[in-house]
Amino acid sequence: MVSEKDFIASNLAATPENGNFQWSAPSNIALVKYWGKKAHQIPANPSISFTLNSCKTITNLAFAKKENDGNFSFDLLFEGQPKEDFKPKIQKFLERIAIYCPYLKNYHFTIDTQNTFPHSSGIASSASGMAALAMNIMSLEKTLNPEMTTEYFYQKASFLARLGSGSACRSVKGSVVVWGNHAEMENSSDLFGVEFPAKLHDNFMNFQDTILLVDKGEKQVSSTVGHDLMHNHPFAEQRFAQAHHNLSAIQSVLENGDLEAFIQIVESEALTLHAMMMTSLPYFILMKPNTLEIINKIWKFRNETKIPICFTLDAGANVHVLYPENVREACLQFIKDELVGYCQNGQYICDAIGTGAINIL
Ligand code: PMV
Repeated sequence: MVSEKDFIASNLAATPENGNFQWSAPSNIALVKYWGKKAHQIPANPSISFTLNSCKTITNLAFAKKENDGNFSFDLLFEGQPKEDFKPKIQKFLERIAIYCPYLKNYHFTIDTQNTFPHSSGIASSASGMAALAMNIMSLEKTLNPEMTTEYFYQKASFLARLGSGSACRSVKGSVVVWGNHAEMENSSDLFGVEFPAKLHDNFMNFQDTILLVDKGEKQVSSTVGHDLMHNHPFAEQRFAQAHHNLSAIQSVLENGDLEAFIQIVESEALTLHAMMMTSLPYFILMKPNTLEIINKIWKFRNETKIPICFTLDAGANVHVLYPENVREACLQFIKDELVGYCQNGQYICDAIGTGAINIL
């Protein structure tokens, strides 16, 4: 079994003076949700997600040799402009991964990052952002250790991304990614995401995700605080057991294409996630009135048309509307006619299942 020790960099032969890498990494949407964690970003339960295609972060990492004085040194640019308020999060990430990437202190970095989705759209950029940065760091490590295998490259990228933001480990490679130990999933790990091992049924090929931007404001409760509230949560144990059960169930569904079963698991997971927030202490509600309006409209439309459209939610008020590609036109028409009115400034983003991070430079 792969352990944390396997990710401590070794065989660092080369010492380049300077260089530049660029990667894009997508966002992802969980079908079975991760909510609750142990120390060192170890998830309390396994999760599975669809990788997105259009919503992504593009990050350029320039590096130049410096003396190792025991400190990290980096400048951070967002869309080409210095962004001081993002720095503490990156500093913390670098500190967490220092033991696995000791070479980082030998370089000064310029990290230049941008998102394809509108800033403060309420779409979490931490998953795509941390994944894109982790990919760049692995490109540097690969330069220092050219013998590195591709498998190790992606596994460690996911391992590092996880230390930045848990769900980021599911944004590295593959269309459907599992993160967290699960008895029935061979090679599944708490340490990194793995590609869903079986063939995905045609019903899920190019599956659509239209993200309705209901509330673009700052989240009242960060996911870090939310995860922590699962400690001593009265329903924690049942919830974690349910996630294991739902992961088993969705595994067969993704292979056999049963859309009715898919809808039931995915919507139940979304509502359970929010139920956990509503039943923690302190309790909180991230859904907005328009989130509920949209959910009810989707249920009504599905009942009337029998079109297999459903919703899921992140830790926020936005709604991800999921549906197969062959009903795209009807669903988009429904969204335009009946749901856009509930979005802030009528904004929504059309996305679909993607394949993972892409090396640009
Ligand atoms: O990766 P974090 O710590 O931001 O947590 C994300 C949690 C959810 O998005 C709510 C669920 C998930 O599995 O992505």
